[in-house]
Amino acid sequence: MPEVAMVGRSNVGKSSLINALVGRAVARTSAAPGKTRLANVYRVSPVKAPAFYLIDLPGYGYARGGHAAVEAFEAVTTAYFERASRGEGVSAQKAASPSFAGALLLVDSRHPGLDADQRAWAWLGALGLPCHLIATKLDKLTRAERHRHLQHLQHVYACPPVAVSVLSGEGLEELWTLIAKLLRQPPPPPV
Ligand code: GTP
Ligand code: MG
Repeated sequence: MPEVAMVGRSNVGKSSLINALVGRAVARTSAAPGKTRLANVYRVSPVKAPAFYLIDLPGYGYARGGHAAVEAFEAVTTAYFERASRGEGVSAQKAASPSFAGALLLVDSRHPGLDADQRAWAWLGALGLPCHLIATKLDKLTRAERHRHLQHLQHVYACPPVAVSVLSGEGLEELWTLIAKLLRQPPPPPV
């Protein structure tokens, strides 16, 4: 089955967004960063579309817990995408059946253009993986900030972000449309 993976800084809202998308609290979330420590794989069966895997990954940039802990979390995420770039997702064993449909890079809409996020975007691009930009926690911005921050993101990444809030539900339908589009496209050949 195709895989769609959530990636982003610790605490950006990856696990919360999975819960909002599926309408159930399946992924553990926390106000403190560093909650997700393993790659968690969710099999999602939409009513009107084929099933797919939604992958929740540890975030990057979490400083507490010591350097070794940070490296261990980031190693899980790095290993996942390196496998994906070789056509070996969690569900496909062989490069002959690549299953990776796309990465969703989540960035906090309050902090557009952070170096760590830009490095992640460039790294995923260099691996040849299709990547889309999601701006989270939209409810935390004023109207004026929304306009300014989303424009800033579009400028930095040369890609229009899908802006979401799990509190208000804004953007979730648009995100489902994006995911459906990713799932319809054949995955890229491994590099
Ligand atoms: P790690 O597992 O540590 O990498 O974090 P994560 O990216 O999975 O973040 P998580 O979903 O655990 O959410 C972190 C915090 O942000 C929690 O307190 C969430 O309630 C909060 N949060 C997530 N999305 C939103 C949102 O759209 N709006 C607001 N206001 N808070 C949010
Ligand atoms: Mg998490």
